[in-house]
Amino acid sequence: MKNLTALITGASEGLGKSFAIECAQLGFNLVLVSLPETGLEFLANYLRRNFGVQVFCMETDLTRNNSDVEIFKLLETNKLRVNVLINNAGIGNWSWFEEKDPDFYRAQIELNVTNTVLLTRSFLSHIDKSEPSYILNVGSLGGHFVVPKKQVYGATKSFIGYFTRCLQLELKSTNVRVSLLSPGGINTKSELLVMNKNLKGFAKATILEADFVAKVAIQGMMKGKKEIIPGFANRLLLTVDKVIPSFWKEILMRRNLKTILSV
Ligand SMILES: NC(=O)c1ccc[n+]([C@@H]2O[C@H](COP(=O)([O-])OP(=O)(O)OC[C@H]3O[C@@H](n4cnc5c(N)ncnc54)[C@H](OP(=O)(O)O)[C@@H]3O)[C@@H](O)[C@H]2O)c1
Repeated sequence: MKNLTALITGASEGLGKSFAIECAQLGFNLVLVSLPETGLEFLANYLRRNFGVQVFCMETDLTRNNSDVEIFKLLETNKLRVNVLINNAGIGNWSWFEEKDPDFYRAQIELNVTNTVLLTRSFLSHIDKSEPSYILNVGSLGGHFVVPKKQVYGATKSFIGYFTRCLQLELKSTNVRVSLLSPGGINTKSELLVMNKNLKGFAKATILEADFVAKVAIQGMMKGKKEIIPGFANRLLLTVDKVIPSFWKEILMRRNLKTILSV
């Protein structure tokens, strides 16, 4: 794809890495952001060698104050312009509320919410809004549901959904397309793989591979889709959720997640 340069956060592994590979395959130049010492340069070299795209790496902790401003300053210093922003970095968890300490929740909210908002703010100042540009915010299907053990995480993703829908309205008259990605479970980290293996039936069918999610997401983003929900089972789940009464939802939720909730 000509003239597109994507800034991807959390790019060294998981879904972020799949986004980087998918974008490189489509010919996007890349600005990859990850925490320090995550081996990002190895990925960058692989992408340069195999897809002939330009890749610029930045290593920073996105929960630090001003990291959003520093990223865009560094882009200016290096005379780089981006026109695609993929807000992917996020901290997930699966734990009872009191099992995590306050610092965990502080970092989770900083990364999932504050950083997404502020990077988006800086991105909008950086681009020419009359030129085609794209924002892809990674939310979660969990942001649509009330799921035990995902209390703060789910709330941060609900925030991302609301934030994205408002931006879609505000930027309607520009050439900036804003999409919300709401994936179900993705096989990324090893602990998720173990957890997802215990799922059965319909719950299992909602789990997808990162490369597939990234492909569907980038296709949707390029088409300017408002919300992208990869996988038939996940779209069905959301449709059913809208029509069934809440007491049924609770029964279904308990039955499907019984194995995991008891962990
Ligand atoms: N996996 C799932 O089941 C699932 C389902 C729905 C939505 N999602 C969302 O999809 C996105 C990617 O999830 P994932 O499972 O691939 O990844 P993940 O392993 O949970 O973490 C996402 C990435 O965030 C980055 N990160 C974490 N702390 C950071 C910090 N302080 N500063 C900068 N970056 C930081 C890390 O990237 P680097 O290592 O590159 O720094 C990490 O790879 C997240 O927003 C997640 O909430 C995931």
